[in-house]
Amino acid sequence: MEEKVVVDGLTFVPYLTREEIQEQVKRVASEIRRDLLGKSPLFLCVLNGAFIFAADLIREAAINDCTVSFVRYKSYEGMCSSGSVKQLIGLNEDIDGRDVVIIEDIVDTGLTATQMIADLKKRNPNSVRFATLLYKPESSKTGFKPDYVAFEIPPKFIIGYGLDLDGKVRNLKDIYVVAD
Ligand code: HPA
Ligand code: MG
Repeated sequence: MEEKVVVDGLTFVPYLTREEIQEQVKRVASEIRRDLLGKSPLFLCVLNGAFIFAADLIREAAINDCTVSFVRYKSYEGMCSSGSVKQLIGLNEDIDGRDVVIIEDIVDTGLTATQMIADLKKRNPNSVRFATLLYKPESSKTGFKPDYVAFEIPPKFIIGYGLDLDGKVRNLKDIYVVAD
């Protein structure tokens, strides 16, 4: 792990090591396995931030009947007044009767998460669960609680293991927090 990482003039310091991350990924994966083994879950990885977490989590869950898809959000433009309303794109398959597990990198306000779950439920899945690498409960505006959480963290800016600053440093194997 590096002592510090400087991105665009901002300094970040170590927060979670790759060993701590893998330990919690394994715990969450075993919870998912406990809940879904024997079903054929659809893992929905929310791009871009969740790609590394999803790759590790899905392999650890070791449910051979699963399928994997990738979605992302596109902010509405034009007619919609609210800049925070987002549209889910990239979900092409039929989720009727499926057991869906959304995989996110981070939940802060909970607004995007609750909207996504509501959107998916309109398509008649059997169940929808939500897994996140990071959860900032103090930032919540909705009271939304993910089903699976690797780490609860304070409301500080984090990078690494898929999380970016302006698209950079997703590649870092460990997680860093912005220095005070
Ligand atoms: N880091 C990176 N991206 C984010 C964060 C964060 O802490 N919160 C919301 N998007
Ligand atoms: Mg980002």
